[in-house]
Amino acid sequence: MNKEQVKNIAIDGPAGAGKSTIARAVSKELGFIYVDTGALYRSIGVYALRQGVETTDGEKVAALLPQIKVELRFVDGLQHVFLNGEDVSEAVRQPEASMAASHVSAIPQVRAFLFDLQREMAAQNNVVMDGRDIGTVVLPQADVKIFLTASPEERARRRFNEMKDKGMQVEYESLLEEIKQRDYNDSHREIAPLKQAPDAVLVDTTGDSLNEAVAKVTKLVREKLGL
Ligand code: DC
Repeated sequence: MNKEQVKNIAIDGPAGAGKSTIARAVSKELGFIYVDTGALYRSIGVYALRQGVETTDGEKVAALLPQIKVELRFVDGLQHVFLNGEDVSEAVRQPEASMAASHVSAIPQVRAFLFDLQREMAAQNNVVMDGRDIGTVVLPQADVKIFLTASPEERARRRFNEMKDKGMQVEYESLLEEIKQRDYNDSHREIAPLKQAPDAVLVDTTGDSLNEAVAKVTKLVREKLGL
């Protein structure tokens, strides 16, 4: 695909704001690839956990990077993340991977390690990419930037229902605590913190059903792209 023709949509926001559901729906509607960058940080977190390395120990985690190869492959339009050739798409969704990802994502070497992969995906493909720093750092030239948010209570409730539906045992209170802790970590780290890009459109989905939120964002993206 010619570089000038490639379209990039950046969706950033805190954990549980509905980014992945919305990004997936928008990408399907437009025929774009959906790139979930959180899965990349999660895969590094999983690797560190498996090696018994403290995920808050920047030096030790950085020392693991030369042993790690992370790849994204798309099967029937769905992203799969490979860690040293192993498909870890399921493993990275396990609850312990969330906090591990939040920890390793604050390590500058980890962010640098994953940067080219993200840039390359967006240079070659029409993408909807979601994360924390896509509109600010990874794709500052994105055609459309959305900053998606919702109250912590609403986000915890959504996570709770999602996990309950999958048969996972969780407590609402501990999910809420974790969401608040991750919000704090992600927006207070020194490098590429979670923040709205000046040219991003703020979409607050508190009180919206996911269907309503999807419709809101799809409409906005279509308008911005002139579709
Ligand atoms: O979106 P997620 O919950 O899968 O992300 C997991 C963690 O990875 C999140 O707490 C912060 C980090 N992350 C990041 O720092 N930058 C991104 N572009 C995506 C995720």
